[in-house]
Amino acid sequence: MFRPTRAVFAAAAAHAKYTANVARGVNRLSSAILASGKGSYVETTEGKRLLDFTSGIGVTCLGHAHPKVSEAAAKQCMTLVHGQCSIAHHAPGLELIDRLLPLMPDASLDTFFFSSTGAEAVENAMKLARAATGKQNIIVMRGGYHGRSVGTMALTTSKTVYSAGFFPLMPGVYPTTFPYWHQMGLPVDTPPAELAQKALFDLSLILSQQSSGKDTAAIIIEPVLGEGGYVPVSPEYMRGLREVCDKHGILLICDEVQSGFLRTGKYFATEYSGVRPDIMVMAKGIANGFPLSAIASRRELMDKQSPGSVGGTYAGNAVACAAAVAVADAFKEERILENVQARSRQLFDSLNTLRSNPYVLDVRGAGLMVATEFASPTPPAGDIFVNAQAPKSMASRVSARCLEKGMLLLTTSVFETVRFIPPLNISEQEMAEGCSIFKEAVEEVVKEG
Ligand SMILES: Cc1ncc(COP(=O)(O)O)c(C=O)c1O
Repeated sequence: MFRPTRAVFAAAAAHAKYTANVARGVNRLSSAILASGKGSYVETTEGKRLLDFTSGIGVTCLGHAHPKVSEAAAKQCMTLVHGQCSIAHHAPGLELIDRLLPLMPDASLDTFFFSSTGAEAVENAMKLARAATGKQNIIVMRGGYHGRSVGTMALTTSKTVYSAGFFPLMPGVYPTTFPYWHQMGLPVDTPPAELAQKALFDLSLILSQQSSGKDTAAIIIEPVLGEGGYVPVSPEYMRGLREVCDKHGILLICDEVQSGFLRTGKYFATEYSGVRPDIMVMAKGIANGFPLSAIASRRELMDKQSPGSVGGTYAGNAVACAAAVAVADAFKEERILENVQARSRQLFDSLNTLRSNPYVLDVRGAGLMVATEFASPTPPAGDIFVNAQAPKSMASRVSARCLEKGMLLLTTSVFETVRFIPPLNISEQEMAEGCSIFKEAVEEVVKEG
């Protein structure tokens, strides 16, 4: 790892006072100041080494400062930094299309628009759906997260904190039931087919009572509900969704911002159902930390957008695209998929041993997008499925205890859930270290009561 020098520590000490000048609206897992990151670890300016099981919220899939990715970006920095998309094409952007085309879950997804953030890509997906269908409304999944921009805030229903105080939101958005047992007030062991059936029934009501197929441009879904609790959608539900979309001429948008790029053990989580999205949204893991996002769709749909209706000064930045090309190449050269599968088994084996703990309600996920849900300390009225009176705020206390023990671990959702998003190239030893820290943290928090 690049070790911060004395000068770096001295500068950090001098600049630490400026943390008071940083916007209060950002919530932070830790107050540490990061000085460097290498592979699965980051190091703070105080010299504390932390095992990073957050990957910067699912971004640094190849670990921090991956040598080939950083080198490709550095090389591009010395060649062409900014090749503005409304001025001309640039070489790394086109090379990236060459790498992405074979990875798409369906060959029909052959046309791309690059932007910088996940929220921006979701907004562009929404604009594309409206332009391509001539319809306005969007159906979203309850518990979904699509960003915090003014448009995407309306699509995000995972927590009210993202929209509280910012109304009125964009109109024409209708939340439907995502097949997640806890949100539906059903027991944890409810069969996926039953969850799918009930959720599809709710969707049929939305379409017959609130937003008819004639007015609905798109349904947007995360194939693994992310900020809503790391809940993989069942193939049954995805197939049902596809049928509904086909019946009503609605476009299916799959938001793979968090679940894409091998995170779930497939290039895209949509592949688990075999369902074809009409528009796919990508970001995060695409460039291992460089700001890049994209939508992919059919050329015939993209061609319906008027020239000039989409764009952005930094859209598809050349350095970020060069990094993304290096990421795609490293995925293959370093056999990342095999590692995800092996480390996923290791993680599930470890977490499943906690199932006997009465405070552990569920262990779920796919690949290295995995969650443990604890019993809620304050169950919503009518929640009859909480089988234990858990210590208060189990998830955040476990996360805080992990931090004390040298590991970054995030919570997620309005329920008591922690999520594991380690780098996809994490070693067996690092995974074992993370699992053991987590187990100790759970045991200690439970003991404290
Ligand atoms: C599924 C999903 N969509 C969209 C976004 C928004 O991405 P960004 O924070 O880059 O705007 C996120 C971010 O966590 C996400 O998880």
